[in-house]
Amino acid sequence: MGFLREGINEVVATTRGNAAPMGIICRNGALSMVLFRGSHTEANIRRDGWVVANLTADPVVWVRTAFEDLPPEDLVAEEVGGRRVERLRACEAWAAFAAEVKHETAEKTLVALTPLAEPVVLKEGVCPVNRGFAGIIEATVHATRYVQNRDPHLRALIDHHLALVQRCGGPREWEAARVLKGFLGDEKK
Ligand SMILES: Cc1cc2nc3c(=O)[nH]c(=O)nc-3n(C[C@H](O)[C@H](O)[C@H](O)COP(=O)(O)O)c2cc1C
Repeated sequence: MGFLREGINEVVATTRGNAAPMGIICRNGALSMVLFRGSHTEANIRRDGWVVANLTADPVVWVRTAFEDLPPEDLVAEEVGGRRVERLRACEAWAAFAAEVKHETAEKTLVALTPLAEPVVLKEGVCPVNRGFAGIIEATVHATRYVQNRDPHLRALIDHHLALVQRCGGPREWEAARVLKGFLGDEKK
């Protein structure tokens, strides 16, 4: 299981040439992902059969990878278990998984994950709990839906979390909030 724990672990998932926030579900030691159809991550996993889970505490990376492609130099290739995989260049830790589609519906694909090797920790250290960072994660999750349906309830949730970012975050969270508001593309910038 490496650095993942029981529950849903939010990571930045990298696949070939792509990065996006995704949840890795860990239940009774079994690892899986539920991917909404139509994402690059889903298509790449289907094609290549691998995914890398990246840990990063940089809130701007979470916002950017949710909405846009990173430049190619932000990804770096690694050889793991005979496979060439790609990870975030700037991450605290990463782990590569074989990924196999187990079930699919019109909207979602269930993928089972098997570790290809032990996780790699690049930066040791502890990270205090910060509601500003958590607010960026929550606001970004809602924003990925909001840009598709403009649901006012989602907008209220985003505004609630962005208010917490202002109160509890630091300069990097404030920068992430600024970037996120740009992607929301509305008057509330
Ligand atoms: C914290 C967080 C967790 C997410 N988890 C998932 C997930 O488990 N499955 C999914 O399909 N999308 C998830 N998303 C939404 C995707 O990141 C989003 O749709 C993204 O645009 C997909 O990018 P891609 O097309 O490059 O794969 C999550 C977003 C955030 C911010």
